[in-house]
Amino acid sequence: MQPNKIMVIGAGQMGAGIAQVFAQSNFQVKLNDISEDALNKGIETIDKNLSRSVKKERITEQDKTSVLNQLTTTTSLKDAGDCDLVVEAVVENMDVKTKVFRELDEVTPEHTILASNTSSLPITEIAAATNRPEQVIGMHFMNPVPVMPLVEVIRGLATSDETYQTIDQTTKALSKTPVEVNDYPGFVSNRVLMPMINEAIFTVYEGVATPESVDEVMKLGMNHPMGPLTLADFIGLDTCLYIMEVLYEGFGDSKYRPCPLLRKYVKAGWLGRKTGRGFYVYD
Ligand code: CAA
Ligand code: NAD
Repeated sequence: MQPNKIMVIGAGQMGAGIAQVFAQSNFQVKLNDISEDALNKGIETIDKNLSRSVKKERITEQDKTSVLNQLTTTTSLKDAGDCDLVVEAVVENMDVKTKVFRELDEVTPEHTILASNTSSLPITEIAAATNRPEQVIGMHFMNPVPVMPLVEVIRGLATSDETYQTIDQTTKALSKTPVEVNDYPGFVSNRVLMPMINEAIFTVYEGVATPESVDEVMKLGMNHPMGPLTLADFIGLDTCLYIMEVLYEGFGDSKYRPCPLLRKYVKAGWLGRKTGRGFYVYD
C-alpha cells in the first residue's frame, strides 16, 4: 500500500526539508517536535523556501498555499495514530532514537512503516527496539533536502522486501532517486564523505592550511560545490562528530578517529551554521 499520511519527527534542518518535499508531492504531513518553538522555526524555513520558489516563478502563490495546507504540526507522538509512514529525523543519538521508535511502535497502526533518516546509526538496532523490525528501514535524505536528488535506502537485517518496495516507490513519488544499501556503519554516503571531512579538519589542526585554503583547494581543484569545512559547518559539527564516533566504534579502526579539533569545537558549542559559529562565523 502506498502511504498517504506521513509524520516527520524532528523539525530541524533535515525534518523541515523532508516535511516540505512530502507536502510538495501531495502527501498529508504532520510535523512533530518536542517544542512549539522548534516547530515554528521548521515551518518558517519551509515558508521561506517556498517563497523563494514563488519569487523565481517556479510555483505560484496558490501552489505555495496548497503545500502549506498539506502540513500540520504537533508536539504529541500519539498523533501518528493514523499515519501510514513515519520518518524520524531527531538528533543523531541511539538512546533518543530508540525511545522514539519504542513509542511509535505502541501508537501507530500495524501497517505503519517506521523509517529513520539517521546518518550512520544501525537500522538493525533501531528496529530491534520495536515489535515490527520488518517494517523498519533507513530513508536517508541529503542536505539540503529540497535540492539533493538522492535518498539512500537502508535495509536493516530484518527489513522485508515489501517495506523496501514501498519506500522505493515512495522515494520516486517525491521525484528523488533511491539507492539501496545494506546496514553497516555510515552506510555508503557517510563512510565515504565523513573521513574526508575529518581529514580536512586534521589539516587545519596540524597547521597545514587555514580553513579557507583547505576549502579553496577542494572547490577549485576537485570541483566540489562546497569545501569540506564549509560543508561540515552546513551539516552541523555535532552531527559530523556523532558519525565519526559511529564509524570509529563500528569498525574499530583508528583511521576513523575523530580529530581532536572537531571534539573541541563541539564541546565549545561551535556547531557550525546552526549556532552561528564553526570553522566560519555566520550572521
Ligand atoms: N534549502 C533549500 N534550498 C536551498 C538551500 C537550502 N538550505 N541552499 C540552496 N538551496 C537552493 C537554492 O535556492 C537554489 O535553488 P534554485 O536552483 O531553485 O534557484 C539551489 O539550491 C542552488 O543554490 P545556490 O545557487 O544559492 O548555491 P549553490 O549553487 O552553491 O548550491 C548547494 C547550493 C546545492 C547547497 C551546493 O552548494 C551543494 O551541492 N553543496 C553540497 C551539498 C552536499 O554535499 N550535501 C550532502 C551533505 S551530506 C548529507 O546530507 C548526509 C549526512 O548524513 C550528513
Ligand atoms: P537538528 O539538530 O537540526 O534537528 C533535530 C531536531 O530534532 C530538533 O528540532 C530537536 O528539537 C528535535 N528533537 C530532538 N529530540 C526529539 C524527540 N524526542 N522528538 C521529537 N523531536 C526531537 O538535526 P538535523 O541536522 O536535522 O539532523 C536530524 C537527523 O538527520 C540526524 O539523525 C542526522 O544525523 C540526520 N541527517 C543530518 C544531515 C545533515 O546534513 N545535518 C543529513 C542527513 C541526515
